[in-house]
Amino acid sequence: MAIALIETERLRFAYGAAPWAVDGISFSLLAGERVAMLGANGAGKSTLLHLLMGLQSPCEGSIRLLGQAVARTPEGQRQLRRAVGLVLQDPDDQLFAETVLADVSFGPLNAGLSPAAVEARAVEALQEMDILPLSSRRISTLSLGEKKKVAIAGVLAMEPQVLLLDEPTAGLDHHGAEALLHALRGKNRNGVAIVIATHNTDLALDWADRVFVLQRGALVASGRPQQVLADPELCHRTALRQPLLCQVEFQLRQRFDLEPAAELPVTPAQLADWLEHSWAARHGVIR
Ligand SMILES: Nc1ncnc2c1ncn2[C@@H]1O[C@H](COP(=O)(O)OP(=O)(O)O)[C@@H](O)[C@H]1O
Ligand SMILES: [Mg+2]
Repeated sequence: MAIALIETERLRFAYGAAPWAVDGISFSLLAGERVAMLGANGAGKSTLLHLLMGLQSPCEGSIRLLGQAVARTPEGQRQLRRAVGLVLQDPDDQLFAETVLADVSFGPLNAGLSPAAVEARAVEALQEMDILPLSSRRISTLSLGEKKKVAIAGVLAMEPQVLLLDEPTAGLDHHGAEALLHALRGKNRNGVAIVIATHNTDLALDWADRVFVLQRGALVASGRPQQVLADPELCHRTALRQPLLCQVEFQLRQRFDLEPAAELPVTPAQLADWLEHSWAARHGVIR
């Protein structure tokens, strides 16, 4: 049976007297899963990530880590921070050392590892993000995409079981975003669960095994991206743009009066396969 790394039950959090920023969220996260947490600005994505990382303590509800309840105390928060790594949206909020190597080494050094172990962890994390040649560069000379990779390497060097990334592709060009997602693939084959908070539904359809949709702090839908994002009503209601592939499939169906695909195509090639299949079926061509 798949292991639940983290489970939350009716998690609630509010900033002071404001309405709930996270309102009764229950889910579980399995080893090796790729989850896209979708929602418009202000939906509660960052706040939920902060709760999972132990940066904030929930007002109500509970978090379980590998089946064990996490206390709502500073020790409980420390427990979460040992198992979970969070990459903040803005790398300038995360990076503070002078050079890349110093920054990526900071966490393991602070955790009391030997100098040899610190170096091994840092080098491995830099290799995983494909930025080993940047080791001795000053942080201030890096591009945004490079900074994001360094921030991720710094978190990977702590070997988290759960990796949370807040809007990791925001501000990156297409190649930068692709390279970043590609670098994360190996990680998640090793059993690390990865959660990406984003409003990019194309990315979610392409990358995620499962999506969560948040609206005003509540989890309003979850499931496989092909199913959840195929619902235009849900996307409209939660201020998400439907994935482009979904819009194209809809237009083609309307225009040519086609039967919907059994499941929403996830790649342009799958869309073309469906169209070819529909055309062949209509013309009685057996392929
Ligand atoms: N530090 C804060 N202090 C007060 N309110 C906040 C703070 N951070 C976020 N909020 C509020 O909490 C709600 C959820 O915000 P957030 O978690 O940042 O959403 P998202 O990441 O989906 O954009 C919003 O109403 C936002 O204004
Ligand atoms: Mg946010």
